[in-house]
Amino acid sequence: MEERQIVLGSAELPEVWYNLRADLPEPPAPYLHPGTGQPVTPDDLAPLFPASLIAQEVSLERWIAIPDEVRDKLSIWRPTPLVRALHLERELRTPARIYYKNEAVSPAGSHKPNSAVAQAYFNAEAGIRRLSTETGAGQWGTSLAFASQLFGLECDVYMVRVSYEQKPYRRTLMETWGARVVASPSQETAAGRKILADDPDSTGSLGIAISEAVEVAAGRDDTHYALGSVLNHVCLHQTVVGLELQKQLALAGETPDVLVGCAGGGSNFAGFAFPFVADILAGHGPRLVAAEPTACPTLTRGRFAYDYGDTEGLTPLTPMYTLGHAFVPPGIHAGGLRYHGMSSLVSWLRKRGALEARAYPQREIFDAALLFARFEGILPAPETAHAIRAAVEEAERCRETGDEACIVFNLSGHGHFDLAAYQNHLAGKLIDRELSDADLERALGQLPSAPAEPV
Ligand SMILES: Cc1ncc(COP(=O)(O)O)c(C=O)c1O
Repeated sequence: MEERQIVLGSAELPEVWYNLRADLPEPPAPYLHPGTGQPVTPDDLAPLFPASLIAQEVSLERWIAIPDEVRDKLSIWRPTPLVRALHLERELRTPARIYYKNEAVSPAGSHKPNSAVAQAYFNAEAGIRRLSTETGAGQWGTSLAFASQLFGLECDVYMVRVSYEQKPYRRTLMETWGARVVASPSQETAAGRKILADDPDSTGSLGIAISEAVEVAAGRDDTHYALGSVLNHVCLHQTVVGLELQKQLALAGETPDVLVGCAGGGSNFAGFAFPFVADILAGHGPRLVAAEPTACPTLTRGRFAYDYGDTEGLTPLTPMYTLGHAFVPPGIHAGGLRYHGMSSLVSWLRKRGALEARAYPQREIFDAALLFARFEGILPAPETAHAIRAAVEEAERCRETGDEACIVFNLSGHGHFDLAAYQNHLAGKLIDRELSDADLERALGQLPSAPAEPV
């Protein structure tokens, strides 16, 4: 029988994170202070993050040691398996070999705890007592709740209202791990009250929930903010995924031809793909494909510009692909991909042509998810289904051309809390939400003026 599972022992858990910034020919433009427009300093970030994470954010060291306490917690579920999707290959009648890295085996059911554990550890080490955060799909909120529990921290989660209503059991899981969950926009913050005054029925967005969580953290000395994606240090923590993958592919005797991941704020894609980028920049790595929703097409239709990470303009201006910080995406089920912006490092790669991006409508990705579930057994998260759709597209291309390519995608999470969405899809009730040119232009029209095109 052909090898299906490529597993690593606990001793193979990476001892270092990989920092892509060390290998870029020139670094992305700096974050700018939202008030002064000047590059942010570590002091500017100190009310929100511990010094250790700020140092990681700006580091140019290629390898950063993972503390033993963090490795100890990661070893609860890591290393994660790399699996050959043989049954999917047979169903697609493709000569390609398809593998997936299974991040769904974590306690929260996705890649998100890789950074949550690290962030909780560094905050606890700095004497912080409470973390505040946002969550879209609920994956990041559950991950931070879990990690906060492990390190004895309190955790407040501002959960995008549409997800809060769609996914009550995600809330229960967060509460099981001791977190307090608030539907966003809420009456608890000035940012939330302002949004609700304009639109009492607001479904919320990640940008709004970030404004609330940042406001709470900035106002209290014992509280810090934790972001589940986008920032360099979050991408850094996620590189355990790609580093393990490199060892597993070597064990399988494979050289990947294409790496596929979905991209919300970019940390999932980053963690999976960044360890391969030095080779790509040297001209001999795999192709990179990032998948996103047509309802929130940041990489495929967004503009490369300086923009705020949140709706209210409390966070630094970031050089990135963006749909505009005021953009509120339609309430599609892939809540974790409903973010207007993108990690500046992932944006850098896109800008330089080092990664391809594709956008898919909701019904198409759920069809791909059903195909995967029926032949490989795992019910994927709607976010992950975008990557599956793109991987299937690659495999179909191979069927046409006879290309025996090695396709690897990141199975970023399972969909066990997304059954209401699956139920709607099976009943034919899901609708596709395209973003009209007029709506896109309106959202982009609200971009801040300061420097429009980052260098
Ligand atoms: C299962 C899953 N996959 C992917 C993503 C997107 O993650 P990122 O923001 O790291 O791109 C999310 C975000 O919540 C998610 O829950």
